[in-house]
Amino acid sequence: MDLHIADHPLIAHKLTVLRDRSTDSSRFRTLADELVTLLAYEATRNIRTTSTTVTTPVAEASGTVLASPRPLVVPILRAGLGMLEGMLKILPTAEVGFLGMVRDEETLEVDAYAERLPADLTGRQVFVVDPMLATGGTLAMAIDFLLERGVSEVTAICLVSAPEGVEAISTKYEGIAEVTVHTAALDERLDANGYIVPGLGDAGDRLYG
Ligand code: PRP
Repeated sequence: MDLHIADHPLIAHKLTVLRDRSTDSSRFRTLADELVTLLAYEATRNIRTTSTTVTTPVAEASGTVLASPRPLVVPILRAGLGMLEGMLKILPTAEVGFLGMVRDEETLEVDAYAERLPADLTGRQVFVVDPMLATGGTLAMAIDFLLERGVSEVTAICLVSAPEGVEAISTKYEGIAEVTVHTAALDERLDANGYIVPGLGDAGDRLYG
């Protein structure tokens, strides 16, 4: 698994304000949107393209456009929905699939309550968006859904990640699938309740609660 931890002052600034407990829902939504757009810039660096030619008002110009089939963006509900618009700003032609998952607060087991993905995803480039990678259980279940549909390459964009989750994903998919995680920060650890420390609290509640 490839892990990319952002190193940019604008990302650091926005993430710091996002973490602050005094940041209200409205500002939190704006910051999550802005952060995913910044992270997506780097996360799409290996997006497939094809060569083409266009005619400018002056002359012919050779160029590059996104290749077919178009990429798929998958927000993991609920909190991942707060990252969808920011992702589509940079990838406006992407198709969107949905996964709804919730983690049991006691056991930390993940339950999938919604799935709306194209049936055949063979050869597709997929970007999963979810603000938090904690134990990794949610992302692993999402990746499993995608692998079942023929995906072999998954890029996850998370605002904050815990070392435990990164390790779990790395171990689980080694030699099985090409998984890349782009995150604005790799935090210290998980606490006894499975919360990322220092983290940003419950992203779903802060976005929509
Ligand atoms: C949060 C978060 C991730 C998941 C991460 O969602 O948005 O989806 O937990 O935890 P994990 O890595 O330990 O699986 P939550 O279950 O709180 O649901 P919500 O988005 O509906 O709030």
